Amino acid sequence: MRTQVGIVGGGPAGLLLARLLGLAGIETAVLERRTPEYLRARVRAGLLEQGTVDLLAEAGVGERLARERLIHEGVELAFDGGRHRIDLKGLTGRVVTIYGQAEIQKDLMDAHAATGTNVVYEAEDVSLHGLTGDAPRLRYHKGGSSHEIACDFIAGCDGFHGVSRQAIPQEVIRIYERVYPFGWLGILSDTRPVNHELIYANSERGFALCTMRSMTRSRYYLQVPADEDVADWPDARFWTELKRRIPADAAAALQTGPSIEKSVAPLRSFVAEPMRYGRLFLAGDAAHIVPPTGAKGLNLAAADVRFLAAALVAHYSGGDTDLMDGYSARCLQRVWKAQRFSWWMTGLTHRFPEASAFERRAQAAELAYLASSKAAQMTLAENYVGLPL
Ligand code: APR
Ligand code: PHB
Repeated sequence: MRTQVGIVGGGPAGLLLARLLGLAGIETAVLERRTPEYLRARVRAGLLEQGTVDLLAEAGVGERLARERLIHEGVELAFDGGRHRIDLKGLTGRVVTIYGQAEIQKDLMDAHAATGTNVVYEAEDVSLHGLTGDAPRLRYHKGGSSHEIACDFIAGCDGFHGVSRQAIPQEVIRIYERVYPFGWLGILSDTRPVNHELIYANSERGFALCTMRSMTRSRYYLQVPADEDVADWPDARFWTELKRRIPADAAAALQTGPSIEKSVAPLRSFVAEPMRYGRLFLAGDAAHIVPPTGAKGLNLAAADVRFLAAALVAHYSGGDTDLMDGYSARCLQRVWKAQRFSWWMTGLTHRFPEASAFERRAQAAELAYLASSKAAQMTLAENYVGLPL
């Protein structure tokens, strides 16, 4: 078969791109390795910048989000026994939205099902061909037979472990990477959130984050060694440890309950440059990973998709290739700012096992500076709510 834009990966990046292109009358086919049930159940972060919310609305998948989202005007940092609120709205005039990324995945899948987008689930052995010519192709297996899709362009939206980035020759692509010596152990529980806003806590026992999905569903994270086994963390141990890491008044107010999901995620900073090779464009986690501190992953993916959709629409509506030619550089400008911020906020809030006494004191001083300086708070706030597009 033939389509205009072949999309590898049906996560938030791939499906959002397919929506924006579909609305502009551009034909797509999406190849996704997993089943719809798997994708709908996958638990991810839950914090959206206003730019992401606006783009989802533009893509026609903003209705449930507008109804169910929680708006947060501030965020708390906890350290040294104290709580310090950063007034996001007062400092920047902007707010952030809490809405589970799993819900975005469902909204996108439902929208595509309704319009009949060609989304192939359980597509196996996807491979990319002819990227440097003018007739790229995607091949895959499904149900025991092999298929080929001829397209004009390919969007590699298949996440960090996908095949698209691997299809770029090693001598062309440059990798920048930092792996952190810890991961996040996360649980989801149907309990009332401990606070109406998020709390990022730096404690002697390690970092903890109190976040939420709704007023009746909480999400909590603990910094743990990168190779930690979830089996070693029965719920009771998790709650006890969380209480020791968050401020005493929050610990006293914490409602505990059975977990409905529990997993460990490693922390990594990663960028692959450039984000284009011939007729292949990478977007989202396929090109970059940020540590979750600050929740920039999906927001960055959405910004890539916005730029990529604009570039493809410009091409199809007038043959103008300027936006396609500038795609990688335009994305990477934003990607690196978000990389810097996520790395910095991770450094500010976590306990690094290898940190020297000097580094620990410098971290404490930076937290104290943040608590007392409006300029420092502004720096955090403007990055946290999302830099201008
Ligand atoms: N063939 C087809 N599909 C693949 C392949 C492959 N070889 N490899 C991976 N995929 C699919 C995955 O199953 C997944 O559904 O590509 C999709 C990639 O989705 P994500 O990993 O969610 O990446 P992305 O869409 O870029 O999401 C960006 O959204 O939810 C957040 O935290 C997440 O930061 C991430 C952000
Ligand atoms: C989440 O709600 O899961 C979340 C929020 C903020 C973060 C990371 C994760 O920085």
